[in-house]
Amino acid sequence: MKFKILIFLSFIQIFQAQFTNINIVKEIHSKDKGMVVSAHPLASEAGAKILKMGGNAFDAAIATQFALAVVYPQAGNIGGGGFLVGTTNKGEKFALDYRETAPIKASKDMYLDEKGNANTDLSQNGRLAVGVPGSISGMFYTHKKFGKLPMSALIQPAIDLAEKGFAVTLREANLLNSTKEDFLKHNSHKTAFTKDIPWKQGDLLIQKELANTLKAIQKNGEKGFYEGKNAQFLVDEMKKGNGIISLEDLKNYKTRERKVLSFDYKGNEIISMPLPSSGGPLLAQMLKMASYENLEKYEQNSPEALQIMVEAERRAYADRAEYMGDPDFIEDKTQMLISDEYLKNRWKNFSFEKATPSADVGNIISQPKESEQTTHISIIDKFGNAASITTTLNGLYGSKVVVKGGGYFLNNEMDDFSVKPGVPNMFGAVGGEANSIVPNKRMLSSMTPTIVLKNGKPYIVVGTPGGTTIPTSVFQSIVNAIDFKLSPNFVINAPKFHHQWLPEVIYTEKNFPQHTIKVLEQKNYKFENRNVIGRTEMIFLDENGNAIAVADGRGDDSVAVE
Ligand code: GLY
Repeated sequence: MKFKILIFLSFIQIFQAQFTNINIVKEIHSKDKGMVVSAHPLASEAGAKILKMGGNAFDAAIATQFALAVVYPQAGNIGGGGFLVGTTNKGEKFALDYRETAPIKASKDMYLDEKGNANTDLSQNGRLAVGVPGSISGMFYTHKKFGKLPMSALIQPAIDLAEKGFAVTLREANLLNSTKEDFLKHNSHKTAFTKDIPWKQGDLLIQKELANTLKAIQKNGEKGFYEGKNAQFLVDEMKKGNGIISLEDLKNYKTRERKVLSFDYKGNEIISMPLPSSGGPLLAQMLKMASYENLEKYEQNSPEALQIMVEAERRAYADRAEYMGDPDFIEDKTQMLISDEYLKNRWKNFSFEKATPSADVGNIISQPKESEQTTHISIIDKFGNAASITTTLNGLYGSKVVVKGGGYFLNNEMDDFSVKPGVPNMFGAVGGEANSIVPNKRMLSSMTPTIVLKNGKPYIVVGTPGGTTIPTSVFQSIVNAIDFKLSPNFVINAPKFHHQWLPEVIYTEKNFPQHTIKVLEQKNYKFENRNVIGRTEMIFLDENGNAIAVADGRGDDSVAVE
């Protein structure tokens, strides 16, 4: 069938970065075409190229992830982990978990000093912070189950980008410069990421070692990463300092297929990531609690809407701290936590009169701070499949350690465990046991790759980076679209807020309505300004195949069409 193609750019900001020849496209409308939205234009283009070659959304997901590992080294990765939520044109719904795991030699108290205090420098920086990477396993698992094109074709765009180099964006140049001291501190060898003079926009970043690693994976499959020479490079890197990942850890790593977390929201089916991500459970809790107050009656970011949403966030995040962790190691209480019976009871002490004190909705236990990097990809194809992927190194450039000989950054995901559970905090309360460190356990995540289905077909594909702000950003995107019926650009780019039970503060982006802040301050809410919250990649589809893909305006994020 010959597709009638309608592609036009509307409200579209196309930035042709000087010197770089990189087109950053923020919004594309199309019909019966596949689309990719990611944090970097070259990664979106790599995915779109695979769609043009006849690949499906899952092939494009793999190619985009590999390309991000090259052109977006701050979060794109092969040394980290992620989640993929997908739907096929046959109606299958699935959730792949390729989250990092704690190494065999890890232990509950590994980050506590002799006085029992948590040493977060060790859980956040350097070799001891690294969890066993899952991304390569996840991509091969995706390919085996759902891929159409040969894997070698999906890796090739990333190899070309690593080998020939690409022009760094202004944002990437600034980040490479501001992280230079950390790169030097945590690497005794020369890496591709430091130069004698500062990086500037348009400079070529060439990654020969990474290209070789990708070629080994192309030739030998996932064993090209988890066994043989490349596995030895990673273990040798560990031995240069206090790292504990072994050859056995790498060989034993396995992707887990989970049952998608599925729930109804106002006649739409939402599918999202279950534990070990708190993302899906939190999203279900927040949407359901907000619906008890008929959120759609109010305007977006009005005092009433903000109060309802913040109070839903407060209650959900208190449950996160108490109950959530890796379901292979703890009892999974998700179905109870998202039941109306439980949530209606939880909502009973909500009042429009004043803020609910956080102490009234959960035991005050320490809430670990999470990094806000990470990256999201939303993809649809012309065959009716959709993929929503969030992948991460955790912090910016992860642990800052680059594997010598491998040329890629390792994650610092161990910091997503509760590094000090069971120890009373300043309030005398104890918590975080569900997310304590155990060998082979996956650390709790906030990543929320999500697909909304209408009449069984993909309607919205969405997700974002942002640590603990991920679930609240996805929550806002969904209510902006479904309850407040905003246009796609405003769904994503309207000023955002975030609350997470502790600290007892509402964070707002600049331009958040001052009137709303003033009204809620009188009800005992406290506000703080935050630079940017999340970078959401979203695709909307209607039943006739018309689609609008929008990339977040907060970064270099970009849409590409097949
Ligand atoms: N490291 C970010 C997350 O897993 O949510």
